Amino acid sequence: MSRNIAASEQWKDALQDNYGTPGILLTKGKGAFVWDVDGKKYLDFLGGIATNILGHAHPAIASAVSEQITRLGHVSNLYMHPQAIELAQKLQDLVGEPSARTFFCNSGAEANEAAIKLSRLTGRKRIVSTEGSFHGRTVGSLSITGQASKRAAFYPLLSKVKFAPYGDLKSLRKLVNRKTAMVIVEAIQGENGVVVPPDGYLAGVREICDATGALFVIDAVQTGMGRTGEWFGYEHEGVKPDVITLAKGLGGGLPLGAMISLGSKVPTFKPGEHGSTFGGNPIACAAANAAIDFIVENDVLEHVQWAGKYLKDSLETIPGVESIRGSGLLLGVVLKSSQAVELSKICMHKGLLVNAPNKNVIRLAPPLNVTKKQLKTFIEVFAECIKELPHA
Ligand SMILES: Cc1ncc(COP(=O)(O)O)c(C=O)c1O
Repeated sequence: MSRNIAASEQWKDALQDNYGTPGILLTKGKGAFVWDVDGKKYLDFLGGIATNILGHAHPAIASAVSEQITRLGHVSNLYMHPQAIELAQKLQDLVGEPSARTFFCNSGAEANEAAIKLSRLTGRKRIVSTEGSFHGRTVGSLSITGQASKRAAFYPLLSKVKFAPYGDLKSLRKLVNRKTAMVIVEAIQGENGVVVPPDGYLAGVREICDATGALFVIDAVQTGMGRTGEWFGYEHEGVKPDVITLAKGLGGGLPLGAMISLGSKVPTFKPGEHGSTFGGNPIACAAANAAIDFIVENDVLEHVQWAGKYLKDSLETIPGVESIRGSGLLLGVVLKSSQAVELSKICMHKGLLVNAPNKNVIRLAPPLNVTKKQLKTFIEVFAECIKELPHA
């Protein structure tokens, strides 16, 4: 019996079924590649779902983490440590706001929970989010997630949350008023199938928030840390939000999230109002600092823009592909047929890791430092995979 199959049996007998039983047991990774327990090699174009921004076992991250764990692994939030200060200062520089204040946590859901609590400090309670959005699975972040199927089994959730169609400023304007504490949007809806809003959308949200005094929160959990070829995915619109939430790529593969408030008008937490035992742990912060340094020193964002365009232009010509949407290295391959789930399985069989966020879209989120050779291999094998679809 394959060791992948044996592991599946053990997984089923010991873990909750919330992820189902994935088909392969991964045991090793290097750069853009991973290997399963039977020794099969895969080109990983999902990157832990937009998380391993520099691929697997990147030397800069591996050495920062190894160094840090031998020096100081964990201190709680009763004490300061240099790695958190360094990272918060780096984030200030990247957002271009000396007024930026960071709260560190461990995940995207926690970053959004922090944003929800922060917005309550305005004295307002109402939240407006968008249909199709994904903001996490905890009760607060699920309450502002615009996917009814994910919320269905878990009512009652937070009340006073409304959803506007994504990209539709007219509807948003009707829902946001002087009682609205925050409006939360993604610059691109990743989990919803890499959905890109019309040009001017984020600027329009900014205007609506300015007119009503609602906080403008950008959930950059998936689009952040260079994924779109910009640091946080909103910069091309020339706007700045009041709050940014981050996770995924922030820790370069280690669990780390952040909620950043910008500007002196945005409330900030006072002692005792929020916290997290592991949030901003020295090891996770050391990994994040190493990842940011590598990206800056090696002009990785320029590479992301080039690589994203190359991938988009090449994939568009493959028969069976309707269009490519997204930005930088967060791309959705829209298929002509609704066979994305089948295609993702064929891809895995042929040694490519991708995922199907819905029935006609394949999501790609390779490492930001993916090479031209890896892109070429992906395009070639992906085209072969599409040919194998029964109704291509
Ligand atoms: C935009 C966005 N926000 C929040 C989350 C939740 O992040 P986490 O799974 O780290 O809680 C995700 C996860 O996919 C996401 O894509």
